[in-house]
Amino acid sequence: MLSARLSIDPGTSIGVVPRRLFGTFVEHMGRSVYEGIYEPTHPDARPDGFRADVLALVQELGATTVRYPGGNFVSGYRWEDGVGPRESRPVRLDAAWHSVETNQVGLHEFADWAREARLELMYAVNLGTRGIAEAADVLEYANHPAGTALAERRRANGAEEPFGIRLWCLGNEVDGPWQIGHKTADEYGRLAAETARLMKFVDPGVELVAAGSSNAEMPTFGEWERTVLRHTIGLVDHISLHAYYEESDGDAASFLASGTALDRYIEQVAAIIDEAGAGPESEHPVGISVDEWNVWYQRRWNEIDKPVVMNGAWPEHPRLIEDAYSVTDAVVVGSLLVSLLRHGDRVTMANLAQLVNVIAPIRSEPGGPAWRQSTFFPFQRAAALAHGRVVTPVVEVPSIRTAVHGEAPLVDAVATVRDDGGIVLFVTNRSLDQEVALEVALGDVVGGAGSAGRASALQLVSAETLCTPPGGDRHTVNDAGAQPVGMTDLRGVSLDGALLTATLPALSWSVVVLAPSGALNSEEQLDV
Ligand code: AHR
Repeated sequence: MLSARLSIDPGTSIGVVPRRLFGTFVEHMGRSVYEGIYEPTHPDARPDGFRADVLALVQELGATTVRYPGGNFVSGYRWEDGVGPRESRPVRLDAAWHSVETNQVGLHEFADWAREARLELMYAVNLGTRGIAEAADVLEYANHPAGTALAERRRANGAEEPFGIRLWCLGNEVDGPWQIGHKTADEYGRLAAETARLMKFVDPGVELVAAGSSNAEMPTFGEWERTVLRHTIGLVDHISLHAYYEESDGDAASFLASGTALDRYIEQVAAIIDEAGAGPESEHPVGISVDEWNVWYQRRWNEIDKPVVMNGAWPEHPRLIEDAYSVTDAVVVGSLLVSLLRHGDRVTMANLAQLVNVIAPIRSEPGGPAWRQSTFFPFQRAAALAHGRVVTPVVEVPSIRTAVHGEAPLVDAVATVRDDGGIVLFVTNRSLDQEVALEVALGDVVGGAGSAGRASALQLVSAETLCTPPGGDRHTVNDAGAQPVGMTDLRGVSLDGALLTATLPALSWSVVVLAPSGALNSEEQLDV
């Protein structure tokens, strides 16, 4: 059997877990909003038209933040269309997704829903077809208490109190030629800077995200960030990156090592931020917002979905990019979470794109059931359990060779350590066909550095894994009829003093929870 040895030393903590790392994303596209979270004719619909069954799954997922209303959609969106009496809202063409937008859900409905879903709202403004004035207007409408035309309009539309939205994205994927209102880095940098200046005049409490690159393969990647930062340093608080991964041509080894590509991408952006003088120690640091990430089979979009919407028809909420996620996809999502946590000193927030139906951990059928996709589970466990400080284990593990990313570690892991010494270990086994005997030296953990020997006071709370279910294979998915993929007990786990051992199944993502003896002993106390 293959073996791997990790050691966890809390003295090497890179910092506190940024809880906004567990954000998500709802875009007006496909069946994300309509027939996703909102379906007034569904048997489980509440009086406000939102589905109670979907909301319950969203709450269970436990995300912290939600980006809205797009995505590519936002670059042609007029926010005013979505406020006021529903019967007088205009029906518009959504040129980004070649669909019809009815505007039956807009800022008020979504903000109310997000509050119930316990999600902090992150609102993206349109810097494609619109500009500074409209961005400041929607901010004033949302956040100004009272006494101005826009604030009073919000109150007349039913929201006495401001929405108090703190996080704002300055446009979306403006570097991409597919984007409505695509711009050069200089054009966007100037616009983002002037928009940021006015938005901070209107509400100095906002945090602003400048749009970085749409992916690491963009020909402008690097130069885009340098130029945008030159214009916006001192005005913005975060710069974004978007990252999607997929398995190509059956090359599972490279796909499983996608986390190493995300590591590199984040580190490159961090280096550019440092070079620009906006690193963590600077007067006005710029964090990294990974504001769209996931597994996404873009080939299927190009070959299957795109022809459906680009054939001259303008459908209402068509089925777009409803990827069914497999065991392999879930393991990759888990390993991308490991990568994000490992960079918690630079990544200030991240959004799994998206939340329901559209490349989502939750799926729903019109008039029918809603269910958890395989990718729901690693996200839910990480969001529930990653609290405290991030510790990057020292690893002694074999490498795997990949065609795309070169050598990658067979086992990839990160740990979080709570103030009381409780530890959560998140660990991926990238081998497609071999188990790994794992040993973890827990070191001097309980009570922090300097309390030698107290690691032995830890106890095992839970140990779970996501792997191929009995009778399935690595392509097994959950669907409306059956959901065989989920978390199961991890085998061969034992804790002997400060040494944890476990057997990681082939192709698996596992999570082990340890708590100080007598302190925490139930999942409830650990916020599961
Ligand atoms: O999440 C789907 C799309 O991916 C978003 O609209 C866009 O920002 C990205 O290209």
